[in-house]
Amino acid sequence: MITFFIKTYGCQANVADSQGIAKFLTQMDCQEVATEGEADLLLVNTCAIRDKAEQKLYSYIGALRDHKAEKPYLKVGIIGCVASYKKNELYKRFDLVTFVAGAREELETIQKYLVDLVVQLETTKQLYEQNPNKEMNFGGQDRDIRKKAALNTTLKKPLLAPFGMLKRTKLAKPTSTEAKVGSLTPELKRSFINIMTGCDKRCTYCIVPFTRGKEVSYPASKLLEQVEHDVANGAKEINLVGQNVNSYVDPESGKAFPTLLERIAQIEGEFWVRYVSPHPRDMTVDLFDVMAAHRPKLAGYVHFPVQSGSNKILELMKRNHSIELFIEKVGWLRERMPDATVTTDIIVGFPGETEQDYQATRDLMEKVRFDHIYSFIYSPRKYTKASKMADDCPYEVKEQRLRDLQKRQIQISREQNEKNIGKTLKCLVEKRLENGKLLARTEGNVRVLFLGSNDLIGRFIDLHITGAAAAHLDAKLPELV
Ligand code: 5AD
Ligand code: SF4
Repeated sequence: MITFFIKTYGCQANVADSQGIAKFLTQMDCQEVATEGEADLLLVNTCAIRDKAEQKLYSYIGALRDHKAEKPYLKVGIIGCVASYKKNELYKRFDLVTFVAGAREELETIQKYLVDLVVQLETTKQLYEQNPNKEMNFGGQDRDIRKKAALNTTLKKPLLAPFGMLKRTKLAKPTSTEAKVGSLTPELKRSFINIMTGCDKRCTYCIVPFTRGKEVSYPASKLLEQVEHDVANGAKEINLVGQNVNSYVDPESGKAFPTLLERIAQIEGEFWVRYVSPHPRDMTVDLFDVMAAHRPKLAGYVHFPVQSGSNKILELMKRNHSIELFIEKVGWLRERMPDATVTTDIIVGFPGETEQDYQATRDLMEKVRFDHIYSFIYSPRKYTKASKMADDCPYEVKEQRLRDLQKRQIQISREQNEKNIGKTLKCLVEKRLENGKLLARTEGNVRVLFLGSNDLIGRFIDLHITGAAAAHLDAKLPELV
């Protein structure tokens, strides 16, 4: 039997892709293992969003050398966003790599190649086991994947994504997964479903349009089938994933994202639906109306990326909305769902960001009081417009802004969480943590820690909130209060 291990970096689109591949390999009778050392096939799903993410994965790939030396027939595949835009560099830099296939290739194409690879592995593994000789050569890099599947992902013309040209009706099935199939420790079944991929927005700092190509939405009929299947198989949390989830348009009916959500909410069963990431530009009153009408199935949680509080910077980023409109849209949400959790992404140190611009971001934080923020120092990325903009702000100043922002957010997050003390909240139990406590999440995706038994994992239960920190709530089972 062939064993495999997938290391996933980056966003939930990558998580959905990885777990789709895991499911596929499992169907081919391969077995997922818990560590790199046990695997015959190693896949690394990569993220190109910031330079730091990229550097981290280079050291990871480099360190796989030891496993290859130990097991010469080992196959290593690099997939995802870095694989899309640095294919040749990856082949050149790492001779241990068997194949590189970018995020632009639809999963189905990679899957075709994987079928060949697994058959090949079965033979080479057997050969090696009959005569274990570490000097054996099992063939090097398999650049054939491109020929075999007629792919060409080298980014010669970065603006023309090959998959953006496909007829929408011919698209592959959406990728989906139920996490941790067959895992030894009990864990909540979470489903990640890519409902669309790619991005047509072209924010000036972002590499995603170059690595994932043009926006493509998957047919709603297939997505609904997938959700029904996952719910029937025990998934309690459905995550709808895409670079721009709320610009989703069903290629079959022409209906937009709110309709998809509404139809998913009509599926029988007890489950929560979340979606990441929407763009403020495409946020509509309709969407919040649908969410409010179908709570808690459509969970009271919105990740609402703003990037900056300054109109000047938003314009330079080409976000195509003002800060006033963003605040208004958060208002639409809170009018309908005052207790919904709102989180955001913020970039500090974008080229041209002055102290005044940064203070505008700080003001926004005070006005909106996000429950949580994901904050980053701007990282120049190849191909992007922003990477050519003049930037005279010293890196230390950017670091200082990030520290300041995060320090203030910790206080706000704690205060937001404290509002829940004394309440009894419905929570979904996820897993046991290393510290012995159980981890659950509220409808708003806030972490909740409590003492309880393993049979609660994967269940919706009421928890009495007893305490709050910046990143979690403490709770007790109501019968213990
Ligand atoms: N530098 C820093 N942060 C970035 N993001 C995207 N591109 C960059 C970049 N070049 C952040 C944005 C986005 C999140 C997923 O990553 O905040 O919303
Ligand atoms: Fe990147 Fe902007 Fe598209 Fe999001 S909307 S993936 S930040 S280009």
